Amino acid sequence: MSESSFKIHAMELGPMENFVYLVEDIASRRCAVVDPAWEVERIMQKARELELKITDILLTHSHHDHINGIEGVLEHASAEVHLLKPEYEFWQHELDRPSLHHGGDELRLGDTTITILHTPGHTPGSACYQLGNEIITGDTLFVFGCGRCDLKGGSPEDMFVTLKNMKQRLPQDMLIHPGHNYSVKPTSTLGEQIEGNPFMHYDDEEAFVNYRQHVHDRTRDEPYSAVSRQQLKIANLL
Ligand SMILES: [Fe+2]
Repeated sequence: MSESSFKIHAMELGPMENFVYLVEDIASRRCAVVDPAWEVERIMQKARELELKITDILLTHSHHDHINGIEGVLEHASAEVHLLKPEYEFWQHELDRPSLHHGGDELRLGDTTITILHTPGHTPGSACYQLGNEIITGDTLFVFGCGRCDLKGGSPEDMFVTLKNMKQRLPQDMLIHPGHNYSVKPTSTLGEQIEGNPFMHYDDEEAFVNYRQHVHDRTRDEPYSAVSRQQLKIANLL
């Protein structure tokens, strides 16, 4: 296999354990900031240290804790802001000439191709960004968890389908970069999530919806660790 054209740098910022990612295209020194928020000066400092030029901003979704640094970054860098069209319509926020995408679209960052996946559930236009064998999952998929679906625009039925599609369509050794540091570890593989993420154990939509909406938040604490199918069965939740 050829050497990867990119590197993903994680920064944990702000009071909600958000992960902001800097995607580095190695050859061109271009950089995409995913979900710029909380501490713009530290984001800019990191880009300077790595000798990167921020040319793009990628949004996984429009919640405040993922977007509150957009304007700050744009004061320092002229960057194109990318998000899915359904998220822009849901958000109803004015952005200056945003690049609106559909699921499956590809972006170029120098030599690096980034595929945008439409993964609704947490919000109607939530996106994951796939780069080679890695994926930035926002609040769709956490390590041993998934985004809540009880906020405005959330849909546990959509989340069920989204997670099922990810399980079936993405390779097991794909590396996951979530939107929050809610787990015992910052990253994981899809295979490890299929084994130990309770939300990945459901084959039945109704049971999933019940677990997501009514059971999970009162039975589990952070940091999340692995939950086996067997454990859910014993607890009568599967
Ligand atoms: Fe969110």
